[in-house]
Amino acid sequence: FHVDWDLVTAEKAGFDHFMLKEIYEQPKAYRDTMMGRVSEDGRSVVLKEIGMTAEQIRGIRKVHIVACGTAFHAGLVGKTVIEGLARIPVETDVASEYRYRSPIITPDTLVIVVSQSGETADTLAALREAKRNGARVLAITNVVGSSVAREADDVIITQAGPEIAVASTKAYTSQLIAFNLFGLYLAQVLGTRDEAFVAEVLEAMHKLPEQVEAIIEQAPVLKQVADSISTHNNLFFIGRGVDFAVAQEGSLKLKEISYIHSEAYAAGELKHGTLALIEDGIPVIAVITQKDLYEKTLSNIKEVKARGAHVLGVVNAGMEEEVGKSVDELFVIPKTLQLLSPTLSVIPLQLISYYASLARGNDVDKPRNLAKSVTVE
Ligand code: G6P
Repeated sequence: FHVDWDLVTAEKAGFDHFMLKEIYEQPKAYRDTMMGRVSEDGRSVVLKEIGMTAEQIRGIRKVHIVACGTAFHAGLVGKTVIEGLARIPVETDVASEYRYRSPIITPDTLVIVVSQSGETADTLAALREAKRNGARVLAITNVVGSSVAREADDVIITQAGPEIAVASTKAYTSQLIAFNLFGLYLAQVLGTRDEAFVAEVLEAMHKLPEQVEAIIEQAPVLKQVADSISTHNNLFFIGRGVDFAVAQEGSLKLKEISYIHSEAYAAGELKHGTLALIEDGIPVIAVITQKDLYEKTLSNIKEVKARGAHVLGVVNAGMEEEVGKSVDELFVIPKTLQLLSPTLSVIPLQLISYYASLARGNDVDKPRNLAKSVTVE
């Protein structure tokens, strides 16, 4: 009697690829990253791992978020979260740029490094540069005992569990959860938001895992979208604000594993150049979740449609009627607070990338030329 399965197959737990398994593990990753970090009454954030005193937090004048790849994209969302909740100015940089631009790091700067592996060479070097200049460093990482975790002053471990696929999914979304928790924590200490607000956000965060599940249930629809995209060689993602940050992550995901050339554009920038590339039939994915901005993005959608683009709108529930009139296809994400929409709107983009890679016959988990962890500069 011979059992024909190896360890890898067993680890995939019935999924064809690690990436798909990891996409499906996101509801658990959200729950685990929140576990133990919310007070029993659900009304405040408890971050026992943060050693900064209230006085030290009140002394933070600016925040620098530094990371690479997908973690950098989480940092773009983190900027909006921290600025919005705590009203502290935030800059987000890719680590390989940050180090060489003589960043103004002072002892009242909080430097947040974000790294799934905790071993990325440029991110680690940025951390050391920050410490040399007297800044306090907070690491958001997925690996306990990693170099970044060991060297930072404070560490928030994302509880995503091991991520095997090169294309990051659950690590990214757990980083978003960590940023939301940390942003709320800052707001509590600084008094920039009241308890009722914090409680409302936490309640909405507790609903996210089920909402992610509801999106994943629609995978067959996204597979259809991906199948039609997979025949194209160029594609654009557009969005404004945090939707632009999510668009950048969606574009990176697609490039990494489907090898389709794609670019993410701030929707308002299209007319400053990229519009020249829009021709008949080109797919455009527009992320539209922010109520105060959607009319602006709608006018950008009209610009690309007038030039023959085929537009998929990824929208928040409640906006489908308005946006539906202007796009060719619509994907509706469950209703959540605007602040939290990236934790949901990125899921359909992950699934589209996965199925586009599959349709092209690529090695989904191990894309050409890429590595899971980049420990060289
Ligand atoms: C590599 C991986 C990406 C990851 C980036 C940063 O490029 O393929 O998925 O986002 O490194 O890795 P880190 O471990 O620092 O988050």
